[in-house]
Amino acid sequence: MKIFLDTANLDQIREAASWGILDGVTTNPTLMSKENLKFEDLVREICKIVNGPVSVECVSTQSEDIVKEAKRHAKLAENVVVKIPICLEGLKATKVLSQEGIQVNTTLIFSPNQAFLAAKAGTRYVSPFVGRLDDISHEGMDLVDQILAIFDNYGFETEVIVASIRHPLHVVEAALMGADIATIPFVVLEKMIKHPLTDVGMDRFLKDWSKVKKK
Ligand code: E4P
Repeated sequence: MKIFLDTANLDQIREAASWGILDGVTTNPTLMSKENLKFEDLVREICKIVNGPVSVECVSTQSEDIVKEAKRHAKLAENVVVKIPICLEGLKATKVLSQEGIQVNTTLIFSPNQAFLAAKAGTRYVSPFVGRLDDISHEGMDLVDQILAIFDNYGFETEVIVASIRHPLHVVEAALMGADIATIPFVVLEKMIKHPLTDVGMDRFLKDWSKVKKK
């Protein structure tokens, strides 16, 4: 499973890249709004650090405008993937963009039919938001399971990005289901590496190493 970082923060992106586990980045307007750089400069900087796809969201609502905005985003760097919220106008734009070779990440997916339609329109990625479904007492990971089954049944090449991840267990479940990608907030990524028994074990080994005869 590929690991994307769900952030627009350059320090977090640099840090995760240095761990050797980063396959891509997803951003959205909310994440962008937390940073100080101008939008286009920020996208260029992120794309320089990341050796992989960087999702940049369109905010236009009519298909012609979405296509124009997506093309502007795509010109910012070679590894830009345009993110388009699922809706009729977004579907139309997705068809046009995918035929022109611009990769689309269809976002705000909350039902299997939304993912199915996006795949038919030629999207490269779909992003089901598991945490936001959990927030309203729906089992977010069930949606991922259903989308994976549908894509598998019909041989769609569209990749599933498990999004709106809230905790490390979401990542484990995504990997067990065979999701293509998990896009993970930095705080969750940090938690994934931790285990109290590892800390205790390291502490004990260090103490015992100090007792080992060196000469
Ligand atoms: C995905 O691409 C989105 O940026 C993100 O996962 C949304 O997560 P949230 O529900 O924590 O805002």
